[in-house]
Amino acid sequence: MRPLFRDYPELKAVVAHRDLAELPTPVESMGLADPAWIKRDDLTHPVYGGNKIRKLEFIIADALQKGKQHIITFGATGTNHGVATALMCREAGLGCTVLLFDQPVTATVRRNLRLMQALGACLEYKRTLARTVASFYLHPARLRRDRYFLFAGGSSVEGTLGFVNAALELRDQIDAGDMPVPERIVCPVGSSATLAGLTIGCALAGLSTRVDGVRVAPSHLGPFPACTPATVGKLMQQTLQFLDRHLKHRRPAVPEPILHDNYFGAGYGQATSEGQQAIEQFAEHGLKLEPTYTGKAAAAFLDALGETNGPVLFWNTYNSRDTTELEEKADPTQLSAPLRGLLE
Ligand SMILES: Cc1ncc(COP(=O)(O)O)c(C=O)c1O
Repeated sequence: MRPLFRDYPELKAVVAHRDLAELPTPVESMGLADPAWIKRDDLTHPVYGGNKIRKLEFIIADALQKGKQHIITFGATGTNHGVATALMCREAGLGCTVLLFDQPVTATVRRNLRLMQALGACLEYKRTLARTVASFYLHPARLRRDRYFLFAGGSSVEGTLGFVNAALELRDQIDAGDMPVPERIVCPVGSSATLAGLTIGCALAGLSTRVDGVRVAPSHLGPFPACTPATVGKLMQQTLQFLDRHLKHRRPAVPEPILHDNYFGAGYGQATSEGQQAIEQFAEHGLKLEPTYTGKAAAAFLDALGETNGPVLFWNTYNSRDTTELEEKADPTQLSAPLRGLLE
């Protein structure tokens, strides 16, 4: 049983959940420096790991409980959330549509497009973010009751509960002697449920740990705040309101989220030199990171190690499973011509 339901059995009646992930993920000493630890969320699933799988345990279960047959979501062309959602939908017997907007075309973008296609997702290429968001909200399938609309990144209250559970899982590992109480946890922040859930979960778990989020997505989309302390705080408030409605006992106070702005660089998906250096340093210890999310967070992690004496935990959110075999099953002829063009 997931620690969330063991510690708060009253949630079983009100929170839909399916065991879809391979949990707990290991915590390991990194060898990089004495107090450097890593949480291996790159291994959350045998086919495709990463942080999205934790959210989808709750999201997929919610969709099934509501009688939905198909999930419609969106992301950039290299979306990891799209790959994870396509995989989880396939496992749960749900259909999946991903609306896509452009990001710089890299090997990761090509790989993720192939993976989503191989996993049976229907890919609709809208090119710009504005067109994608408009299509998401005005989608003709909004009129159908069997469709489940999931905002980019899966950072709903359900998704956030996945990371509340993750912090309780970490506390179990600490109690079992797998690692000491970390002074800090460092994680990347895009759509925010990872940071929001870990911040709430550490407080519920009674851990003194500070959770440091590292912004890797634009703070604003046009005039609208998208990744700021206020947007993370709003998601936390929504999740806490849900918990306060259903928890039997009063919960501890939860701190405000901490979001570092200074590792973002020139833009989403654009590598930074500190990120590249961190990727190389991790690679020497056999750990594979990438420039969009984990490289930037790893740069902040290395700085945190220099600032504290206590243990610091790097929350590794990026899949490390070998996807070559699945990628080879992709049939690019099934993609629209413009998307096929991105693969060339
Ligand atoms: C590899 C990876 N790390 C971190 C994140 C950010 O997590 P969240 O969206 O919960 O802030 C994402 C989201 O797209 C991701 O794909």
